[in-house]
Amino acid sequence: MRKFIVAGNWKMNTTVPEGVELAKAVAKAAAEVPANVELVVAPPFTHLYAVAEALRGSKIALSAQNCADKAKGAYTGEVSVDMLKSVGCEYTILGHSERRQYYGETDAKLVEKVKLALEAGLKVILCVGENLDEREAGKHFDVVKAQTENVLFNFSADDMSRIVIAYEPVWAIGTGKTATAAQAEEIHRCIRSVIEARFGKAVADDLTILYGGSCKPSNAKELFQEPDIDGGLIGGAALKAEDFIGIALSF
Ligand code: 13P
Repeated sequence: MRKFIVAGNWKMNTTVPEGVELAKAVAKAAAEVPANVELVVAPPFTHLYAVAEALRGSKIALSAQNCADKAKGAYTGEVSVDMLKSVGCEYTILGHSERRQYYGETDAKLVEKVKLALEAGLKVILCVGENLDEREAGKHFDVVKAQTENVLFNFSADDMSRIVIAYEPVWAIGTGKTATAAQAEEIHRCIRSVIEARFGKAVADDLTILYGGSCKPSNAKELFQEPDIDGGLIGGAALKAEDFIGIALSF
């Protein structure tokens, strides 16, 4: 069964006390959200333990925004999948465009990270998406296809049941410029067909594909009505409980 998910990527925002407040507000408002929509919050590493406590008793899942590409050892400043698991993370986001763009995250590194995350029992939200130059050059399908294949074709059909893909066109992130529902849908359909060609129809049908990029309560409904858009990965609007829940109520 395909799952609908609304996930909040808090990026590098909020202090720990602010994050705990936000998590509590989200948990309180979450009662209104239909049971078939899963809510996920992804605060910064420093917040995970405290936010896990704040979410206790709710059905909201906790996610990290990244993980190390090594299991453990002398890697100063890195955070391992076992550490994430031990604070109660169920998911980790991987391959966000900000990590690809500012921190040199490559598809090869992502293969290592996805492997470690799945082995640790985490689920993965893998981000893909083209930048503005690539879209203007008409290369968006090729870019997204390559990002999807380069990472996920190293995994099995079984692994795919613990992977979610988020399509986030870089030009729509934090710009207020959302992809139209039609623009998002055609890429989502393309991603699903890439997965179907490799892993078969059942895996492709069950795959959750999220849209991310200036998604807000006012445009979520139109996006979520598309047959291949199964929810959202939300940045700015996830920092206000009311907006985040408003998006989750848009199915
Ligand atoms: P915005 O919703 O702020 O555009 O960010 C989207 C995003 O990058 C989520 O990962």
